[in-house]
Amino acid sequence: MSDTVSHDKEVDVLDLNSEIPRHVAIIMDGNGRWAKAQKKPRIIGHRRGVETVREVVKACRELNIEVLTLFAFSSENWRRPAKEVSLLMELFFTALDREVKRLHRNNIRLRIIGEHSAFPERIQKRIVKAEALTADNDGMILNVAANYGGKWDIVQATQKLAAKAARGEIEADKITEEMIAAELSMSGQPDPDLFIRTGGEERISNFLIWQLAYTELYFTDTLWPAFDRSEFDKALTSFAGRQRRFGHTGDQIEKLRNA
Ligand code: IPE
Ligand code: IPE
Ligand code: MG
Repeated sequence: MSDTVSHDKEVDVLDLNSEIPRHVAIIMDGNGRWAKAQKKPRIIGHRRGVETVREVVKACRELNIEVLTLFAFSSENWRRPAKEVSLLMELFFTALDREVKRLHRNNIRLRIIGEHSAFPERIQKRIVKAEALTADNDGMILNVAANYGGKWDIVQATQKLAAKAARGEIEADKITEEMIAAELSMSGQPDPDLFIRTGGEERISNFLIWQLAYTELYFTDTLWPAFDRSEFDKALTSFAGRQRRFGHTGDQIEKLRNA
């Protein structure tokens, strides 16, 4: 085998040379603990968290990051006390209303990924409206994962492919990675280059599973409401200092970068 890349799955040299990630995915964790530390109810932390969202969206737009994906509510978060769940729904509803115009003004396309059918009807309507308003914006994509689970995403993709196979449109044994990727919620978008989790836990919590296969992971103890621009810059600096190898050796990557 030669030293250069000679496989069907070639490494994109652009990915190797890029110091700024094309796609950043974030688990915004630590709102509750932030509030608790100030002896305030958890919802206060969630509210402050919305302000952090605003700042991170702004930073990504300024840096020309193509895609930002935020984990807002997991498929497991329904297990929380009913009161917290309903307050979170309320916050989601008002934030959708209030922030969408700002996103639109900034040429940002909003996508809500996850199982919408579990949400109250008024939220579902708001989601459709917000996505439609921003559908043609091409400055950046903001994916908000709400009632999202990485396992759910793979299951719904599998169901679609199985239905196609049953209709005779595809052959089951010819299903490829690309075909699965094409049915996932973020199809057509690049996979995340940088994953950030605030709040100190070092786990994926059923966020993106398939799409994180080669993502650079960054964990910080900083709680989401306290995650400011300088904290975001630290994550970006860490990313810029990494060597992504995609299975190759470091020497091969150096050669490719300098080619
Ligand atoms: C993340 O913060 C926001 C949601 C999951 C909705 P948490 O609410 O999980 O905050 P902690 O982890 O309890 O501090
Ligand atoms: C993950 O945070 C989900 C979101 C940030 C929306 P959690 O706080 O729910 O994760 P676990 O339960 O600690 O793993
Ligand atoms: Mg948490």
